[in-house]
Amino acid sequence: TTVEWEAQSYDMGGHDTYMHKEISEQPDAVDRVLRGRIDDRFATVRLDGLNLDAREARGVRRVKILGCGSAYHAGLIGAQLIEELARVPADAEPASEFRYRNPVVDPDTLYIAVSQSGETYDTLAAVQELRRKGARVLGVVNVVGSAIARETDGGVYVHAGPEVCVVSTKCFTNTAVAFALLALHLGRIRDLSVADGRRIIAGLRRLPGQIAEILEREEEIAKLAAEYADARSMMFVGRVRGYPVAREASLKLKEVSYIHAEAYPASELKHGPLALIEPAVPTVAVLPEDELLEKNRATLEEVRARGGRILAVAHSEQEKADRTIVVPRNEVELDPILMGVPLQLLAYRTALALGRDIDKPRNLAKSVTVE
Ligand code: G6P
Repeated sequence: TTVEWEAQSYDMGGHDTYMHKEISEQPDAVDRVLRGRIDDRFATVRLDGLNLDAREARGVRRVKILGCGSAYHAGLIGAQLIEELARVPADAEPASEFRYRNPVVDPDTLYIAVSQSGETYDTLAAVQELRRKGARVLGVVNVVGSAIARETDGGVYVHAGPEVCVVSTKCFTNTAVAFALLALHLGRIRDLSVADGRRIIAGLRRLPGQIAEILEREEEIAKLAAEYADARSMMFVGRVRGYPVAREASLKLKEVSYIHAEAYPASELKHGPLALIEPAVPTVAVLPEDELLEKNRATLEEVRARGGRILAVAHSEQEKADRTIVVPRNEVELDPILMGVPLQLLAYRTALALGRDIDKPRNLAKSVTVE
């Protein structure tokens, strides 16, 4: 069985679809996940439900993040944030793969289960298996009191509010922000400096306003969506910080528009997928302005040389791209969170242009509570 679609239970608030409503709610949602948690005095955050004291936090040698679909992709961003800010090796894996492979469960690893609904069976089963083997498992969950929230040792609530559209938007963004909070918290217990703590906090506070700025560009993004809606397939690429954003954007586009899409690390293009590049297969390149920007520009060159059309998501107009969606700059660690937002709008407007059933795409359920 799957959880019944609750479309009638929440007000549309003047929007034509829940997806649009939920995308639009992101400035408020991000504000909510931050509220009451920032501790300026110690340049950190307070996470009351974490249930992990400082000594335990210092003892963590690895972090393993588990989830499905968009939750897994938010976990990929989370793993990068934890590595960068807390300098603990971290990675994310689909919860289903994890539980089917008789995983080695290590006492010094902190496991984190990520879920909007808190009811996804594969993720819940991974949690139960880990608990059975004596591991410490935290949850990054949206629905308060859900099964995963109850069965974990503690965690961080995402506070995105109810998400009705089958495809996740505001919860994805809020989950990534929740991971930034967790990473900052772990970082400040370990080696992250006060100055860096302050820098990240200032960046977090800028996020809601910057998301609002991005949302104002919707009409411009709608034009791009119309331009690319004839694509046979779309390639999404990014390097390191841009890669999880590319993964999620590719999933979003296929879920809601039914256009085939793939995501690759930019450097992997030349090892195979370049063979697909032609005008009917445009590339969306996620280009945060970090130390990899020049490398990323070289990727645009490779795509162009094969006759590929390019849509860049960047902090300034990219001359090697056909089109650029310009996104405000935050801190390099937090930029991926912002760069996902225009690509949600791109998926939404593409689906709208193609007349898709946006809130309830074919074959999908909001929450998969069976194996
Ligand atoms: C389903 C939905 C996805 C979602 C995934 C995980 O497959 O269609 O949009 O990302 O489940 O859901 P969860 O509630 O665990 O985040």
